[in-house]
Amino acid sequence: MNDAAPKPTSIRRRLLIFLIGSAALMVSCAAIVTYWVALHLANSAYDRALLDPALDIADNVRLDKVGAHIDLPEKALEALTYDQVDKVIFQVRSRENAIIDGVPDLPPAPDFDPGQHLFFNGSYHGEKVRVAALRSASGIVVQVAETLHKRNRLVGEILIAELVATALVALGSIALAWFGVTRGLLPFEHLRRELLTRTPSDLRSLTETPSPIEIAPLIIAFNQLLGHLRDANTMQKRFLANAAHQLRTPLAGLQMHLELLFRRELPTDVRTELERMHGATVRASRLATQLLALANAESAPQQGREREIVDLLTIASATARDWAPRAFDLKIDLGFSLEHAVILGESVLLAELVDNLIDNALRYTPAGGRVTVATGCDRDLPYLSVEDTGPGIPPAERGKVLERFYRITGTPGEGSGLGLAIVREIAERHGAELDIDACNEHNGTRVRVTFPRKVRSEGLVV
Ligand SMILES: Nc1ncnc2c1ncn2[C@@H]1O[C@H](COP(=O)(O)OP(=O)(O)OP(=O)(O)O)[C@@H](O)[C@H]1O
Ligand SMILES: [Mg+2]
Repeated sequence: MNDAAPKPTSIRRRLLIFLIGSAALMVSCAAIVTYWVALHLANSAYDRALLDPALDIADNVRLDKVGAHIDLPEKALEALTYDQVDKVIFQVRSRENAIIDGVPDLPPAPDFDPGQHLFFNGSYHGEKVRVAALRSASGIVVQVAETLHKRNRLVGEILIAELVATALVALGSIALAWFGVTRGLLPFEHLRRELLTRTPSDLRSLTETPSPIEIAPLIIAFNQLLGHLRDANTMQKRFLANAAHQLRTPLAGLQMHLELLFRRELPTDVRTELERMHGATVRASRLATQLLALANAESAPQQGREREIVDLLTIASATARDWAPRAFDLKIDLGFSLEHAVILGESVLLAELVDNLIDNALRYTPAGGRVTVATGCDRDLPYLSVEDTGPGIPPAERGKVLERFYRITGTPGEGSGLGLAIVREIAERHGAELDIDACNEHNGTRVRVTFPRKVRSEGLVV
């Protein structure tokens, strides 16, 4: 069985093959017709001129006692059969077919009535000739033959003139058809570009209105499919959000009960077991929280909060304030370098983004280190960055840490591996770029989120 995928066909290629084939056929037909027309034209133009010497010779055939002979001086005969291009010969035969004058080896003319003339093609010494023959009332046949050089030249010239024009028209038609098809296929190109710019989470319907009727059904069908995908996606996300939400409450209860138990006098082995249970509960609780945050970050924009004009400075300072006590406990210097950076965004999600970045910075930076949260505009692009003096993320891992459930091997502490995936989701949703690199001065980590463009609106321009 041949598993090779069938080669994709190209409308343009097919059209070109068809057009070139048709044009070649058209030009060939035109060539045949033109040839016959040109031949007819050349013959009617030159036959008359060929008949004239035959008439002159016939007028000068005398029948006297010497017998039949041409009563013309040699010079006059030469003048009659002179031609610049072709070789002209003549022959005069008696009624009995005996040669009276001229070349002896020109074949006799076909039979025709006295007083008539005719033209026919023949050959003389292996060369094609055109013959004008006339039979006088007395039955004498005069034939004048000439080679075909000037006729062939005329036919050639007519043929070339006609064929060049036809070929130009054919080429022009092919070019126009090619141009037309390219223009006609432009909507497909627009569609392709629109699909290429889409991220996997962007399941919005494609624009239907300006599409030509040939593409519209395709777009409608595709939009229906996108609609089904959106529904399935929403159901899945709603399920995830509900499950995470439902899990959080019992886990929080369990954690609280375990913490209450710790206050009692407990045998050491029981306390150790309870501490393990408590650790697992904290981990599960964190996982549920992160799953819920991810589900929120992924939920379709129209189903979630509306976008609003937000200042990253406000969001960062509010979130960072919540982290100050923890930074103090961990003996980490949490500093800020905040400037206005106004964007169009979803403040709840942006707070979640800052939350995850500060959580990582505090979690992975050893005591005595420094964490700096910065906002502002760089070349008119609003940004938010969190940098720390921790161990840093090796360049090879910087792409992987954005994947879900990925933690660098040997990373201390508990974590679900979802924090940076949430950050990426939220950044993508805001059309922002996410960069992870090392800090310049220290070997730590700097995560920077650069947003598309500063919003200029009354009272909000920085
Ligand atoms: N500031 C940082 N310094 C050093 N390593 C980091 C930093 N931030 C992230 N990492 C590494 O990237 C991994 C992924 O981070 P991410 O925030 O996605 O997950 P997590 O922190 O392990 O879990 P959680 O979902 O609870 O945040 C971390 O496990 C850690 O190894
Ligand atoms: Mg994290």
